[in-house]
This record gives sequence, C-alpha cells and structure tokens, in this order.
Amino acid sequence: MKADEVLTAHHDVLRGLLRDLAETTDAETERRRQLRDELLRQLEIHTQIEDELFYPAVRNVSPLLSLAHAEHRQIDDQLATVMRMAVDDPEFVPEVRMLEKTLRHHTMEEEQRMFPHSHALGEDRLEELGEQLRARQHELARSGGMRLIIRLKRATLRLTPTAGPS
Ligand SMILES: [Fe+2]
Ligand SMILES: [Fe+2]
Repeated sequence: MKADEVLTAHHDVLRGLLRDLAETTDAETERRRQLRDELLRQLEIHTQIEDELFYPAVRNVSPLLSLAHAEHRQIDDQLATVMRMAVDDPEFVPEVRMLEKTLRHHTMEEEQRMFPHSHALGEDRLEELGEQLRARQHELARSGGMRLIIRLKRATLRLTPTAGPS
C-alpha cells in the first residue's frame, strides 16, 4: 500500500469513530467512554505517524506543512475539551460534532491537496513510505509505551482546569 492509501484508510477509521461517538445517546455512558478512549488512541497514533514519517517526507513537495501542523494542534485542543467532559454532559455531542468538523476538514485537505503533492515522490518511495507507516502504526498500537503515553495524557487532561472566564 502506498503512503497516501495507508493514511486514507486510517482517516476512515477516525471519521467512523467520530460518527459513532456523535450518534451515542447521553444514557450510553459506557459505550461513549470506550469510543472516546479508542478515538484518543487512534488519533495519537495517526498524529504520531504523520509527524514522525509522512510530513518530513513531503516537506519539499508540499507547501501545506505548517497549516497541517496548526490543524493537528487545533484537533488536539478540541480533543482535550472532549476528554475533560463528563460523558453524560448534554454538551458532549455538540463538542464531538465540532471536533468531527475540524477533523473532516483536515483529512479532506490532506486527501485532496497534500496527497496529490506527495505523488511527486514517485511510486517506489510512496510504497516504501507506506510500509514504514504501517509498521509504525502497528508497533504503536501494540506498544506499552504508547499505552503509557495515553494513560498519562488522559490523566493530565482530566487534571487541567478548563480555560475560560472565572
Ligand atoms: Fe494530519
Ligand atoms: Fe491524516
């Protein structure tokens, strides 16, 4: 699989999790918690493989890198808001929908603009990069280190007070 195909397949996973999460009801607290944790896990993996492998590889063929990094930070901030909320909060779904909108915009931009730019790297390089992305994705999904990062991040998010007027 080429790099853009690996990332597009993972985008489908992320978009599916957000859609499922947005469709839960306030009473489905356990399912909401599970979907949210899985979303956090998959988003961490996705951001990490792009930041570590894909973005550096396309740095010279796409002008969209700084925009993409800024959007990753925005997604991270909106995810932090969702992580801090009680799962039965009536504002939970509206927040998830806002995150979904940002993520849809970002992934479409990658698929429609950045990935076509990446084709300048050539078929062989894209295949090689695709294998690296897939290997790293599976490694992170298995690794205890990743689980630790997620646990720590989750704990940090829950301890950080929500910013806003006091
Ligand atoms: Fe991205
Ligand atoms: Fe992406």
